[in-house]
Amino acid sequence: MKNDRGNFGSKLGIVLATAGSAVGLGNVWRFPFMTGQNGGAAFIIVYLGCILLLGIPGMVSEFIVGRHSQANAARAYATFARGKAWGLVGILGILTSSIILGFYAVVAGWCLQYLGASAMGRLKGDNTFVLNYFQQFSSDPVKPAVLGVVFILITHFVIVRGVKDGIERVSKLLMPLLFILLLIIVVASCSLPGAGKGIEFLLRPDFSKLSSQVFLEALGQAFFSLSLGTACLCTYASYFTRHTNLLQSAGQIAMVDFLIAVLSGLMIFPAAFSVGVLPDSGPSLIFITLPNVFQQAFAFMPALGYVISIMFYALLVFAALTSTISMHEIGTAFFTEELKLKRNRAAWILTIACSVLAVFCSLSVGKADLQVMGRSLMDFCDFLTAQVMLPTGAMLTSILVGWCASKQLVRDEFTNHETSGVKSFYPYYLFCVRYVVPIFILLILMHQFGVI
Ligand code: TRP
Repeated sequence: MKNDRGNFGSKLGIVLATAGSAVGLGNVWRFPFMTGQNGGAAFIIVYLGCILLLGIPGMVSEFIVGRHSQANAARAYATFARGKAWGLVGILGILTSSIILGFYAVVAGWCLQYLGASAMGRLKGDNTFVLNYFQQFSSDPVKPAVLGVVFILITHFVIVRGVKDGIERVSKLLMPLLFILLLIIVVASCSLPGAGKGIEFLLRPDFSKLSSQVFLEALGQAFFSLSLGTACLCTYASYFTRHTNLLQSAGQIAMVDFLIAVLSGLMIFPAAFSVGVLPDSGPSLIFITLPNVFQQAFAFMPALGYVISIMFYALLVFAALTSTISMHEIGTAFFTEELKLKRNRAAWILTIACSVLAVFCSLSVGKADLQVMGRSLMDFCDFLTAQVMLPTGAMLTSILVGWCASKQLVRDEFTNHETSGVKSFYPYYLFCVRYVVPIFILLILMHQFGVI
């Protein structure tokens, strides 16, 4: 069975596919508005701390479980722990990533809409026009729901082509393109008049904004952005080779992910300040600010602005796509292996279930009904996954790897049977995984539920 599971074909493929999972709307859409709402650079510093102390050790732990077992998430956890009950952590991950796919696809669908609208030149107008455009479109009952489902279908068709020919190929093509385009737009945005204030907001920390809420948000964002805590990395690691250096890969992926998040901030904030949009406008920031960026930055050469804006929305779609692929793959691998289905059929189970959720999430935007615990269904799914389910998954994984699994096994995977050059980091890793990660997450969850 192991042989026909498929593998990533090269080291570069491994890093780009996994970075493709990590880099997505979390970086370009969620990180900037979180930073805007939580005090700019102060938030970024806390966020970076979360990545180093909790994120990288957490990634390595998921890699260890997945690469050792070479199986879908549920089986990987059960095999690694030598206990069936641990398989439930894998199942929790599959559930979490499916919920994320549901609401994430809605935002990705908005990106599709903006891609079409900018190609047809419909996003031209003043600030109020762009604001109204977004509000009208996102609260429409039909179109955004349909586009969300279309996005899940596109994901589906990449998934059914397999790990190497689908996932890896798409990532190798789209990741470098995304990076180049991001750089071009950062330069354009930073050279707008009045951009300096935005750069300052992003780079000068205001520690008075820090509160326990900010820590919570930063942690949730770090897990979300690194695709951590849902067995996503575990599933991808099951396609790694025996020679993959797990710590080094985790470090590289985290670095790329952080860099792209900060660059996205540098793309949005200078422009936001220069056109007078406050950076704390929340989830809609990117859809209201960016159309203006292109208009104003390239007012001297409208044709260039037109082309860049199309390319930008196309690449936003592609960044989202490499992420939705990874969320889809977790469940697809599970159903293929556990129900012994053809990959194509297994993928349909997920596609249909997530499409139903996406439709409801989309309907809940801008409407008073369809609320769960005082939030729209869409916001509730975001909150539930990023701030409850992801931390829980990551905490259980680190308890498994740090305390319950065979020590020799963990060491062998970390050091590639003593052959890799990262042996000296092992004690630090073990310390983080045994104490830092679980204790931090536990404190944060207890705070979340009002226990402390
Ligand atoms: N990390 C992705 C982003 O930043 C989102 C993502 C992909 C994800 N796979 C995931 C989040 C699994 C949580 C779990 O856009």
